[in-house]
Amino acid sequence: LRIAIITGGVTHERDISLKSAHTVALALRNAGFEVEVLDFDSTLIPNLRKGNFDLAWPLVHGGIGEDGSLQTIPPLLSLPFVGTPAEESSIASFKPHAKAEVLRAGRLSPEAVALPRALFKQVGAPNLIDAIVSTLDFPLVVKPANGGSSLGVTRVKDVEELRLALIDAFAYCDTAMVEKLVHGKEIAVSLADQGDGLKALPPVEIEIEGGEYDFSARYETGRSIFYAPARLSETQMQAVTEAAELVGQVLGMRHFARIDLILDDQDRAWFIDANVTPGMTEMSLFPQAAEAATGLESVLKNIVRQAAAS
Ligand code: DAL
Repeated sequence: LRIAIITGGVTHERDISLKSAHTVALALRNAGFEVEVLDFDSTLIPNLRKGNFDLAWPLVHGGIGEDGSLQTIPPLLSLPFVGTPAEESSIASFKPHAKAEVLRAGRLSPEAVALPRALFKQVGAPNLIDAIVSTLDFPLVVKPANGGSSLGVTRVKDVEELRLALIDAFAYCDTAMVEKLVHGKEIAVSLADQGDGLKALPPVEIEIEGGEYDFSARYETGRSIFYAPARLSETQMQAVTEAAELVGQVLGMRHFARIDLILDDQDRAWFIDANVTPGMTEMSLFPQAAEAATGLESVLKNIVRQAAAS
């Protein structure tokens, strides 16, 4: 099989995407596939056309990499691709929409409001902030409605912090989401289709040394401790894997994905985020989960076989 990995793109997570592509390309080459790495720019379509590929693997994170834009290109060229189709990607990557689907399926996700930037201009920031704090109690989490790697995400405990956090979130997206903070263990469940549907790999637990799982805790060594598999009881394992697999199904995700959850002290799994194109860098959660299963090379090989056949 000849595989085109699509990377880069103009998003806030471009550098992460380049690293993800490197990890995946290495593993797939070791598994015996022919791999070319293509940039998501104006050369992409001509390069896909002339490359005589059997399969594309979009690995662009954030923005147009995960909102379905990139996912429309391989089908235009009748090229099978790894990952969630365009329409489903658009819903899964937009946090308020993904949350609404998960809640509709009867699952838990923290209470939240989505705030388009235009609304602030319309009704004035102080009025809107008053309305938010009368609906949701602190502590809250403010995040851009799409994008990843925790960019623009801030935990807030008062009105002033909320105001500043909203400005930060709007630097990344025209819609901000303000969500209630749920306390518990941060658990990431990677999903992979290795021939029997989108199934959970071993859940990974993230423990942060003083602070949050922010951009630096994600990509700088030493700030986070990862447990792969997570230190969970059998009941807890079941709660998180079952919740993640259901979210993957509800959102129509395909081949590979990652669902981020909080497990509270009553063993309830709260849906936080669905990642259409989870990070695949050496420090990322999906590769750690795959290593805790049968190994990254073997998991990726099976995903590729599935995607090529679909
Ligand atoms: N958005 C980054 C790449 C992640 O979720 O891993």
